[in-house]
Amino acid sequence: MATAYSTLPTVGVVGGSGYTGGEVLRRLAHHRGVRPRYALSRSAAGSATPVSGLAFESADADRVAEADLVFLCLPHGETAPWVAAAQAGGSRVIDLTADHRPGSGAESDAVYGLTEWNDVAKADLVANPGCYPTGVLTALKPLEAAGAISEGVVSIHAASGVSGAGRSPRADLLFGEVTGDFRAYGLGNGHRHLKEMRAALPGTELLFVPHLLPVERGILETITLPVAPGVDAATVRELWATRYAGSPVIRVLEEAPTLRQVARSDLLLLSAFDNAGLPGHLTLVVAFDNLGKGAAGQAIQNLNQMIGAPADEGLLCVPS
Ligand SMILES: NC(=O)c1ccc[n+]([C@@H]2O[C@H](COP(=O)([O-])OP(=O)(O)OC[C@H]3O[C@@H](n4cnc5c(N)ncnc54)[C@H](OP(=O)(O)O)[C@@H]3O)[C@@H](O)[C@H]2O)c1
Repeated sequence: MATAYSTLPTVGVVGGSGYTGGEVLRRLAHHRGVRPRYALSRSAAGSATPVSGLAFESADADRVAEADLVFLCLPHGETAPWVAAAQAGGSRVIDLTADHRPGSGAESDAVYGLTEWNDVAKADLVANPGCYPTGVLTALKPLEAAGAISEGVVSIHAASGVSGAGRSPRADLLFGEVTGDFRAYGLGNGHRHLKEMRAALPGTELLFVPHLLPVERGILETITLPVAPGVDAATVRELWATRYAGSPVIRVLEEAPTLRQVARSDLLLLSAFDNAGLPGHLTLVVAFDNLGKGAAGQAIQNLNQMIGAPADEGLLCVPS
């Protein structure tokens, strides 16, 4: 870690008034390896940010290159002018939108920032993964790599808190509409995150059913899958424990995790279960915060790789 304050890299946040931008700023406020330089917002200019002494400023792309690295926390499809300004000015980018992710169809040099799988240390443009794909890929990639998934459909039932949809007002997300209710959406295997999951898990047949959970934050994914002969829940726990031994945020449990354990943290909890009467079929349960490991936490993990900071710097790793 650098010692002299003036030598630390500078960082900026665009879209800082939104949910992911606010969570990135909250982590930057106690990150010891960077100097927050700006936080840009069209609606919140002049008001305070979570970083002491830093106020929001208006969203002007000319400001981007004032920081060595910029986090783009914008709606999908809005990153082009910001990436262009960053690249022109020599700033590195962590893009939290879907614009440069695998399966997006975009031609770019972005490195997919699924931190435990891809090395982003030298990347100039990092595509931070989507929230749902983060849990699915973290659970399934070690199994796929070990040849532990057998032919058949991998079925993913996922429930997300309402913050997953961002801060823009929507009638169907009003408190009176969601509280006390529970609904599936994206039915018919058509959710936009499927493209990202399929691109990162080629050859695995995925059926994805998202649900809207009437809580503020957190994602719980229940995955059922056919496994190769000899693979049981203990095998899967061992594969995970080995693959994620170095991760500051991924933990393997014997019991099923709940949202309360991960809300407001960067943790991702994994568990695996055999099914009585159904040999060869396992159930996996994954819990994490959509704004933590599903967005800002993973963005900070990627920042740490890019600047050579300790892997856990700035992260929130204490379960509640
Ligand atoms: N929410 C999640 O759980 C989650 C998880 C993973 C990834 N993501 C992705 O992360 C990105 C941000 O999500 P979010 O939930 O933080 O959204 P959000 O709460 O709606 O925040 C987006 C922010 O971007 C700013 N903005 C909107 N349109 C803009 C434009 N045309 N130009 C410049 N700034 C603009 C807005 O701030 P001002 O109006 O103040 O400028 C807004 O606060 C999205 O692409 C989302 O898909 C979200």
